[in-house]
Amino acid sequence: MNVSNRTIFCNDNLHILRGLDSNAIDLIYLDPPFNSNRNYSAPIGSEAAGAAFKDTWTLSDVDNAWHGEIADREPALYQAIHAAELTHSKSMKSYLIMMAVRLLEMKRVLKETGSIYLHCDPTASHYLKMLMDSVFGKDNFRDEIVWQRASGRAKGSQHKSRSLGRDTDCVFHYSKSKDFIHNTVTQTLTEAEILVKFPHTDSSGRRYNTNTPLFCQPSMGDRPNLCYEYKGVRNPHPSGWRVSKEKLIEMDKTCDIIWREGKRPLRKSYADQYKGKPIGNLWTDIPIAAGNERTGYPTQKPIALLDRIIKASTNKDETVLDPFCGCATTCVAAERLQRQWIGIDISPKATELVKHRLEKEVGFFGKVTSRDDIPKRSEKLPNWTTHKHTLYGKQEGTCNGCQTHFPFRNMTVDHIVPQKAGGTDHEDNLQLLCGACNSTKGTGTQAELIAKLKEQGVL
Ligand SMILES: C[S@@+](CC[C@H](N)C(=O)[O-])C[C@H]1O[C@@H](n2cnc3c(N)ncnc32)[C@H](O)[C@@H]1O
Ligand SMILES: [Zn+2]
Repeated sequence: MNVSNRTIFCNDNLHILRGLDSNAIDLIYLDPPFNSNRNYSAPIGSEAAGAAFKDTWTLSDVDNAWHGEIADREPALYQAIHAAELTHSKSMKSYLIMMAVRLLEMKRVLKETGSIYLHCDPTASHYLKMLMDSVFGKDNFRDEIVWQRASGRAKGSQHKSRSLGRDTDCVFHYSKSKDFIHNTVTQTLTEAEILVKFPHTDSSGRRYNTNTPLFCQPSMGDRPNLCYEYKGVRNPHPSGWRVSKEKLIEMDKTCDIIWREGKRPLRKSYADQYKGKPIGNLWTDIPIAAGNERTGYPTQKPIALLDRIIKASTNKDETVLDPFCGCATTCVAAERLQRQWIGIDISPKATELVKHRLEKEVGFFGKVTSRDDIPKRSEKLPNWTTHKHTLYGKQEGTCNGCQTHFPFRNMTVDHIVPQKAGGTDHEDNLQLLCGACNSTKGTGTQAELIAKLKEQGVL
């Protein structure tokens, strides 16, 4: 990995992502801004709010270059974006292009065993899921987590908006491949839940229940090896006991069986041995950041949310990246769990807050690196001659512009996304063009080249 642990970048994440090594990150959590979230600092309804919003998602020059590239190289992704433009708006299209180019880079930097969690809300979640399907593949969709971040509304607000309250956010989990890291995460019970789940108390004060069956269901089929007699009790049907005779004797010794005259015995399950309930995709037990945890940073997410995500998808010492890290909640949660981390945010406020939060919440006074320069990828850059041969083979000697076959010596190596627009020297950004097509393309995009060739009647 070409960036050290505990680094926070203050820059546009697209530039930084492009500079990160491929296949180096174990987990990405992103909580990008959108619409209502965007103008958090300006009072709702103020003129500034409207103005700021209007300028947010328009195509910058870099996005323009990528717009063409997505159309050319990722047709499914482009169609998804196009559909959003038709059904929603041009501003949604711009937003999705902004997201799509970053998601493509995020996929590249993620390890094969890695996971990505995209936090969003109903404004764009349906479009973003299509983007995620296109970039990561529908078969790598793992979960849609519904996080309840609020409950109850101010009186009368429902009447005004004529819609139900928005109490939840949505977090999409995708993996890069089928071999992703997955740790089972459980949730401890509250005192009240324990009383309900374990209603009995034994003589030593231990709480227990008798819900776990001691006999198999007939639907589980015949199990001759589990059909035996113990203390005069036989299993009632050919499916047998749940446990072997040795195990049953052991359980009996520790008084974990309740014997009842003329009735089936019961098995005791104790609250103090309960491993916690496995969590589902509906998360209602994590409140928004409050009290000491609150930094005043708008849209701050709770550490407990990140704690759960990081535990589920990484192991100790693995690397977590948050490309929209805000007040660095992900970095704090990762530090607490002894994971390595990298944060990126365009706002200098995030950089300021990181050190402060780590000192305050983790007691960590070590070295946090803040930087705003673009890291250099340590991956080997192509040897141009070998590379030209590979590309020549791949393109079967045909120019990627005019589609004409040329001898090897007449071909030139071209950056598909121009270097000016942030395109790199890496293999995935190179192609062969004939000399004429290369000069027609100049510093433009591939889509512009194709348009020019059509205009000239070459295509
Ligand atoms: C919704 S907030 C993230 C909040 C964060 N999860 C937390 O708990 O504090 C989105 C963040 O993305 C940042 N941001 C927006 N565009 C960005 C870009 N192109 N590159 C890096 N950061 C960006 C904003 O400055 C903002 O802090
Ligand atoms: Zn050509």
